[in-house]
Amino acid sequence: MELSRTERQRSRTGAPASGVRTAVVWEVLSVTLHEADPAGAGLVVVDAGGGTGGFAVPLAEAGHRVTVVDPSPDSLAALQRRAAERGLQVAALQGDLGDLLQLVEPGSADLVLCHSVLEVVDDPSAALAAVAGILKPGGRLSLLVANRDAAVLARALVGRSDEAAHALTDPAGRWGPADGTTRRWTPAGIAALVVAAGLSVEQVHGVRTVSDLVPSAVLDTEPGAAAALLALERTLSDRSPFRDLATQLHILARKG
Ligand SMILES: C[S@@+](CC[C@H](N)C(=O)[O-])C[C@H]1O[C@@H](n2cnc3c(N)ncnc32)[C@H](O)[C@@H]1O
Repeated sequence: MELSRTERQRSRTGAPASGVRTAVVWEVLSVTLHEADPAGAGLVVVDAGGGTGGFAVPLAEAGHRVTVVDPSPDSLAALQRRAAERGLQVAALQGDLGDLLQLVEPGSADLVLCHSVLEVVDDPSAALAAVAGILKPGGRLSLLVANRDAAVLARALVGRSDEAAHALTDPAGRWGPADGTTRRWTPAGIAALVVAAGLSVEQVHGVRTVSDLVPSAVLDTEPGAAAALLALERTLSDRSPFRDLATQLHILARKG
């Protein structure tokens, strides 16, 4: 079988093994970082809404100069403990996406991460414009957002047809008042938002393409099922129509 782009990336970079929630994103980032910094001198990375440092700390460990901007003091304290335990320095700045241009030097970042944050900000367009403002020309954005179309499918599969139909027409992609997610995008919608911020979309991957649809009992009882599912996730992540129905969409975008 022909290798997917993601599989080729993994084989070139030796990206670390990780779970279905992060494996595809790490693989895209590994290749991007290597291409931007082949000598391994270290890049300027900002994790906007980086929380407790699930991405920031490993990136600092890989030699990058990492800053996390997050409004939560508790998350920033946990991040700094996590970094200190490994003897690493990660700059922790309290603030939100709307404050980015006041907190970080405009045009200074090689890479900005914005993972699972755009859903909760007041103004996603302004937030992405601020992200674009702190990127260097040629710098990259790694953006992870919730996919509206996955929510439609998920509600339909549990017999909630009304909620599936609601998500399809709701401007925020929510399936009803009890929906715990504030906002979702379609693949076309998030690409349009990124382009409107002055960035060009280079890659789109699906994250949790099928794994949220698999009963956990199967994974717990079938030997090898979890590893096989992770391999399948990697294979499907850049293939339509599977990618377009993933729970999350990962966009790699470039400035200029
Ligand atoms: C779901 S967590 C994601 C954390 C991290 N990016 C990750 O992928 O593991 C959402 C994070 O966004 C932060 N956050 C909430 N509102 C924000 C805002 N307006 N600007 C920036 N970050 C925000 C939260 O404090 C939290 O750390």
